[in-house]
Amino acid sequence: MTGDRTASPPSGVDPNTPSIARVYDYFLGGKDNFAADRELAEQVLKVAPNARATARANRNFLVRATEAVVEAGIRQFVDLGTGIPTSPNVHEVAQRINPDARVAYIDNDPIVLNHARALLAGIRTDVIAIEGDLRDPKDILDHPDLRAHLDLAQPVAILLVAMLHLLTDEDGPDRLVETIRDRIAPGSYLILSHLWDDPDGIARAGAEKYAHRKASAPVVPRTTAQIQRFFDGFELIEPGLVYLDQWRPTEDMIIAGAHDRFGLCAVGRKP
Ligand SMILES: C[S@@+](CC[C@H](N)C(=O)[O-])C[C@H]1O[C@@H](n2cnc3c(N)ncnc32)[C@H](O)[C@@H]1O
Repeated sequence: MTGDRTASPPSGVDPNTPSIARVYDYFLGGKDNFAADRELAEQVLKVAPNARATARANRNFLVRATEAVVEAGIRQFVDLGTGIPTSPNVHEVAQRINPDARVAYIDNDPIVLNHARALLAGIRTDVIAIEGDLRDPKDILDHPDLRAHLDLAQPVAILLVAMLHLLTDEDGPDRLVETIRDRIAPGSYLILSHLWDDPDGIARAGAEKYAHRKASAPVVPRTTAQIQRFFDGFELIEPGLVYLDQWRPTEDMIIAGAHDRFGLCAVGRKP
């Protein structure tokens, strides 16, 4: 549906309901979005003009954190809430360092699955895409394709990057993280970022726009303490829970003075 003006949407895709994945794609400068997504994104930008920079900072954190855990010896990845493919994708980052890395992508948005499957079709056996809803975590970790693809008895990296703030407390983000923690092997990693409930209420103002336009999922900024709690049972690796741009910044980022303050992130290791 790139440049959707003439193309009709793929089956299962509702172009009139703003989709979290497509709005995020718009913030990242992608073309896989419809008018309803762009309108919501522009509404968000009016109250949270940082949204594009935060999306980019989040994506860059994903890359640095993935590199760090591959360098620590991880070669299996489960990317929960994958988003529309954005280069470099997790498998590209991981395989640059370890060509044997294996990745399972999981999302509940049909557009994400369409794109992921088109990208992977027939060319790879080391990367799979699975449709799954993170409100049912047991079903996901028990999915036969995932079990056939990865060995959960061995350490794995779980990515929940810009994902948990799309679950209300009732949707069970705590239950999701606990289920994962209990099922993964010692030595596994949790890579997590989350929209921060900033004291000026900017993230909340943006979140209200998603609610108002009845987007495909709610947006729930959380406090530092609430985000920290997702790491119960994990040991945070350096530098701990910090703003997106503060997690092991590259020299270029330091020189450029990168300073996004709207997302918190950390990488935890299961002892
Ligand atoms: C903001 S994007 C983040 C993409 C990627 N993780 C990143 O950080 O660049 C969030 C993704 O989570 C997916 N998502 C939202 N709620 C979900 C749910 N309940 N189950 C599975 N995926 C979900 C959306 O479809 C979207 O693709």
